[in-house]
Amino acid sequence: IQQSNTVIRASFLHFINDPAKVENIADAYQYISDGLLVIENGKVKSLTPFNDKSADLYPHLEDKRGQLIMPGFIDTHIHYPQTEMIAAYGEQLLEWLETYTFPTEKQFKDKLYAQKISQFFINELLKNGTTSALVFGTVHPESVDALFEEAEKIDMCMIAGKVMMDRNAPDYLLDTAQSSYDQSKALIEKWHNKGRLQYAITPRFAPTSTPEQLTLAGKLKAEYPDVYVQTHLSENIDEIEWVKSLFPEREGYLDVYEHYGLTGEKSVFAHCIHLTDKEWDTLARTKSVIAFCPTSNLFLGSGLFNLDKADEHHVPVGLATDVGGGTSFSQLRSLSEAYKIMQLQGKKLSVFKGLYLATLGSAQSLSLDHKVGNFEKGKEADFIVLDWAATELQTLRLENSNSLQDKLFALMMLGDERNIHSTYVAGKLVYSVAD
Ligand code: GUN
Ligand code: ZN
Repeated sequence: IQQSNTVIRASFLHFINDPAKVENIADAYQYISDGLLVIENGKVKSLTPFNDKSADLYPHLEDKRGQLIMPGFIDTHIHYPQTEMIAAYGEQLLEWLETYTFPTEKQFKDKLYAQKISQFFINELLKNGTTSALVFGTVHPESVDALFEEAEKIDMCMIAGKVMMDRNAPDYLLDTAQSSYDQSKALIEKWHNKGRLQYAITPRFAPTSTPEQLTLAGKLKAEYPDVYVQTHLSENIDEIEWVKSLFPEREGYLDVYEHYGLTGEKSVFAHCIHLTDKEWDTLARTKSVIAFCPTSNLFLGSGLFNLDKADEHHVPVGLATDVGGGTSFSQLRSLSEAYKIMQLQGKKLSVFKGLYLATLGSAQSLSLDHKVGNFEKGKEADFIVLDWAATELQTLRLENSNSLQDKLFALMMLGDERNIHSTYVAGKLVYSVAD
């Protein structure tokens, strides 16, 4: 047995397919109540049921019976500089940005400050079982350097970008069309595909970019087609009206992004709550992706995202926290709110669809599913060890449960970071609660 091997015995749950795309739900997931995961050189070698021979073959196996192992959660939209302003009172999107967000983001001009918050942020992700994220920095290139430097230390699969913003924000947060292009390009050259890091071109949202800036963002995307694009789309009614007044020559909000060449398979649009039918078609036609941000959509009073409509239009959806608009780093909490968002629309969110969204679904939406998202042989070994029950209430609820589906549903509705016992990135333990 090589030194680089990790072998773990536990219960395992992972997804093979989108539950919305299979006739029989059993074709969407695999649950092994007594399984054996073998990791070699940071990658999955095998996941099989445990048998009598396993103990002889792997005398050093770690015994985690009684715990549940899943692929690490993936967060498809989050703002690391907003970590410290999570839960800011009283405003909806546009006033919230002016009142709380912009003053907070000002501090990231200071690289040391950005470093300090980057460390805190990554630790918070790991504590919550999140092993990959698509992340906004601020307008300052230093903010992205700081984050990537920290992610690189633990070989984390992370995508991030410098905000491009050249109007409708305080002077101290503005770049110019040209400087945003130059700085983004330099960051791409420096970081994109360095280890497990990738870059995302990041125009904040249409209202804070001039046509000149969006033109250069599109030029950059054309020069580096493999790079991501991340931005916001149709989150708030006032925001949508504002976009129409700023871009009267365009047909609507999404048409702005499409016009400047910013749609596509690697373009991730956060929120997408108030889309027109034409915009749903455009997302589908361009293969663009939605980041569903349940806690943020409720906290900022933005509205109810229609997940079923995305499935009907075959638009890929990833799950996201959108911290600091979102109120928790926990994707379990995101799912709990997602369930309620569906309830308010007279629809259901099954626990299988939910946990799929948090793992393989988000990996697919970010075109990362050839590397992460489940335990298929050869995938990079990012995974989490969960406690089924972390509170007395959860324990009582579990005792009153007799199906896998019901146990998982209780975990999804009641669980949070307290249920994350440990987190592994590329086969290495990077976070664990003190036992
Ligand atoms: N739209 C533009 N900027 C932001 C932001 O920072 N958070 C959210 N939720 N929406 C935005
Ligand atoms: Zn956001």
